[in-house]
Amino acid sequence: MTRVFSGIQPTGNLHLGNYLGAIRNWVRMQDSHECLFCVVDLHAITMPYTPATLRAGVREMTAALIASGLDPARCILFNQSAVRVHAELAWVLMCTARVGWLNRMTQFKEKSGKDREGASVGLYTYPVLQAADILAYKATHVPVGDDQKQHLELARDIAQKFNTDTGIELFPLPEPVIEGPATRVMSLRDGSAKMSKSDPSDAARINLTDNADAIAAKIKRAKTDPEPLPSEPAGLAGRPEAANLVGLMAALTGQTPDQILATYGGQGFGQFKPALAEVMIDVLAPINARFTALRDDHAALDAVLAHGADRARAIAEPILAEVHRAVGFRG
Ligand code: TYM
Repeated sequence: MTRVFSGIQPTGNLHLGNYLGAIRNWVRMQDSHECLFCVVDLHAITMPYTPATLRAGVREMTAALIASGLDPARCILFNQSAVRVHAELAWVLMCTARVGWLNRMTQFKEKSGKDREGASVGLYTYPVLQAADILAYKATHVPVGDDQKQHLELARDIAQKFNTDTGIELFPLPEPVIEGPATRVMSLRDGSAKMSKSDPSDAARINLTDNADAIAAKIKRAKTDPEPLPSEPAGLAGRPEAANLVGLMAALTGQTPDQILATYGGQGFGQFKPALAEVMIDVLAPINARFTALRDDHAALDAVLAHGADRARAIAEPILAEVHRAVGFRG
């Protein structure tokens, strides 16, 4: 049996990295697998937040996911705090995970920065809650971007140790699904940083809510180098910004970087960038239009989330009961 689970934080806008790295795979998988997709609002409070922004962010992210092609009739779409099993299972798994394992997590180091003592304890245990998200459903496949690899390895280690400690093969070891030509989309301003919701510069990312003019302007201003494009991918070595734009063109057109460079090799960015902007606008305009139509229908969005949470609970509660028996909380 296979079951797919993945999640996204409701902090800020859905951007092109999220879409090409993860969401497109979610949309594809909902036709062939039982899928749960979660707006992870419990994770969102690990960093400074305001309640009103969080509430609006959950709805906006739900609208953006539906606009991107998730169909609540074909997948289970819900927000994490509506299903208490996530937090309850996280406690049990916090007693499985080892401090040494969490000390190796690079995302905590990046997000806590210089003020590690001032970071929330939740930010430190964030990856254990992420493991609970996955294991609460005995999910077997987890489609994500490249930056989640380390968290998924931890989820596998936690599942394995729980099974060993209790002597019961309760959890399957979840497989990461990191697929496609854009598993790591980089910032438009700095080819060594990933495109991120939290980048203070809006020019660094393409939001799914950006209109055609904004997209064209951001691509025009994207950082590049003065060389023309090479005719083969090997020529992109040491040129991270160029490699990123070629990767985006490949992901958006469904071609390989070889094919893109066979067409554009020898041309400068003055020719390549307008072509890239046009393709990007074609892909994003329908998503943008659907998002605009959905985002203010709070009643409809709340109903989708409530129905999704009911269905998620029906799967997760019996699994939590198994966990309680395995641990010895009940006979
Ligand atoms: P989040 O909200 O940062 O990102 C959501 C998804 O988008 C992918 N992604 C990218 N892919 C390619 N290029 C990029 N620049 C880029 N930026 C983001 C992420 O890899 C992710 O797949 N911890 C998770 C949320 C989470 C989760 C889970 C995921 C919570 N519980 C359980 C899987 C399973 C996160 O912060 O994703």
